[in-house]
Amino acid sequence: MAATTPHSTVAVTSPSTAAQWWQNALIYQIYLPSFADGNGDGIGDLAGVRARLPYLASLGVDALWFTPWYPSPMADGGYDVADYRDVDPVFGTLAEAERLIADALELGIRTIIDVIPNHVSSAHPWFRAALAAPPGSAARSRFHFRPGRGPDGRLPPNDWPSEFGGSAWSRSTGPAGAPAEWYLHLFSPEQPDLNWASPAVRAEHEDVLRFWYDRGVAGIRVDSASLLTKDPALPDLAASPDPHPYIDREDVHDIYRSWRRIADSYAGGRCLVGELWLDDPERLARYLGADELHTAFNLAFLRSAWDAAGTRACIDATLAAHTAVGAPATWVLCNHDVTRTVTRYGRTDTSFSFAAKAQVHAAPVDLALGTRRARAAALLTLALPGSVYLYQGEELGLPEVEDLHPARRRDPMHIRSGGTDPGRDGCRVPLPWSGAAPPFGFTRQGAEPWLPQPPGWGALTIEAQDGVPGSMLELYRAALRLRRSLPALRDAALEWLSDDAGVLSFARGGLRCMVNMSSRSLPVPAGYEVLLTSHALDRGRPGELPRLPPDTAAWLSDTRRPAIASSAAPTVARPPAVLPPGWRTPDS
Ligand code: GLC
Ligand code: CA
Repeated sequence: MAATTPHSTVAVTSPSTAAQWWQNALIYQIYLPSFADGNGDGIGDLAGVRARLPYLASLGVDALWFTPWYPSPMADGGYDVADYRDVDPVFGTLAEAERLIADALELGIRTIIDVIPNHVSSAHPWFRAALAAPPGSAARSRFHFRPGRGPDGRLPPNDWPSEFGGSAWSRSTGPAGAPAEWYLHLFSPEQPDLNWASPAVRAEHEDVLRFWYDRGVAGIRVDSASLLTKDPALPDLAASPDPHPYIDREDVHDIYRSWRRIADSYAGGRCLVGELWLDDPERLARYLGADELHTAFNLAFLRSAWDAAGTRACIDATLAAHTAVGAPATWVLCNHDVTRTVTRYGRTDTSFSFAAKAQVHAAPVDLALGTRRARAAALLTLALPGSVYLYQGEELGLPEVEDLHPARRRDPMHIRSGGTDPGRDGCRVPLPWSGAAPPFGFTRQGAEPWLPQPPGWGALTIEAQDGVPGSMLELYRAALRLRRSLPALRDAALEWLSDDAGVLSFARGGLRCMVNMSSRSLPVPAGYEVLLTSHALDRGRPGELPRLPPDTAAWLSDTRRPAIASSAAPTVARPPAVLPPGWRTPDS
């Protein structure tokens, strides 16, 4: 078993050794059904990804995170896994997954896969066996089966809610079809929760980790990582039990300590990435000690509003909590569960929460403003110390698709809300690759993508943005190129340079990043060379300092200690010339 090396500080990372590649990586999230379709059935697949690896390499990504590709009834986009050691035929084969992992690695791109330890699919052989076995059996002990309460056990065993609405319990039926025991599912009824007190559950997952590390994956994302262990008494939430009966319990850390030993026993740098929806950065950091998970998604950052004081507080809290445990920070603006960035930033409320999303989806949105802010946010996140997650389509500036017909929506969050919550399909619409009309090169001409694409996405395709100065795609490419070439963005600590309200201004070595979140323009300080901006600067009269307009970010090189060796020509990224119909033209 290799010894674990604690990292000294979050900002000062050792020279990008393979062993700790995730410390400042750019990780691109692939939502497999919606990335690219290789066989023309309208659903994205592994063949589609393999064919598009050159695109991912041209973007400059270090790793891919794949949402689940396992055999699944797809009750929750594959987060209902029926077999952890195979690939769903709709996506390809295990051999194809192995080839993809190897092909990507040849291009210098590592692979992270998703493991969902909190639950399995109700189609998983374990759950089928549990249903067929009697109460109290070993087969049932891998799940949480309980008799109901009230007359005839008609009521669920406790008051826990499902994350997708309704009760977290469903009733099973006995051999003759009579109502029988209830089982726990924190998500949909098709996702029964595993009982982590069962040694069989622990052994199985340890084996699954090895199965995929053996196949060359460089990282494993741990889904719903704070929910695995439950208070064995399963107390009602109304009884306000403390600690919480299933969120962030002390005994969950034990699981990750054993997983860390497995990850560290492999060569080449294998990481564990936690999905932890915890508000308190210090609670989150408790998962990131030297003997637990290596890193976690910064979902507090994803939830932050477009507001300088709040964003700075979030950055400071993140860095402090991570530095204390020697783990690298991460920066996330979007993923397959939340409102797409340009839409969120185009609303009056620019923060994210699942509860608010169910309400605000009909609120007016200014996509030009949201896009402008998303461009600035890209330069902000890519300048912060740590790794960055980029959700497919973010690099194209895709908006949330909010007018999907209810009959086309697939997300259980939508279905179980009785249709009141729009759910998460709007951020999962297949990528537009090329052409002027759906399916935009996502699938073969004439095939129907599994979720319909808006007809107005022609200006957002990869083809339309490729090589076009100022497109969102070229902004990301330019920023990622610079990020790779500037040693300051790998190694230097973050130092705040200004306390002005409405602006974030920090240095990392000779690189200065300024983000104007206020409504007035600001002078670009003297003594800096402009490397990259998210929007054209206001050039004043000759002799005057250029000004950074609102909702704009700039990367500047300190002329006294240049962040960049040569005096490279400044790259001014202008907004896209063509906007989809119905978009307002950016005016300021
Ligand atoms: C995670 C996933 C989400 C899924 C849920 C249940 O939050 O990101 O998509 O629905 O876990 O597995
Ligand atoms: Ca397909």
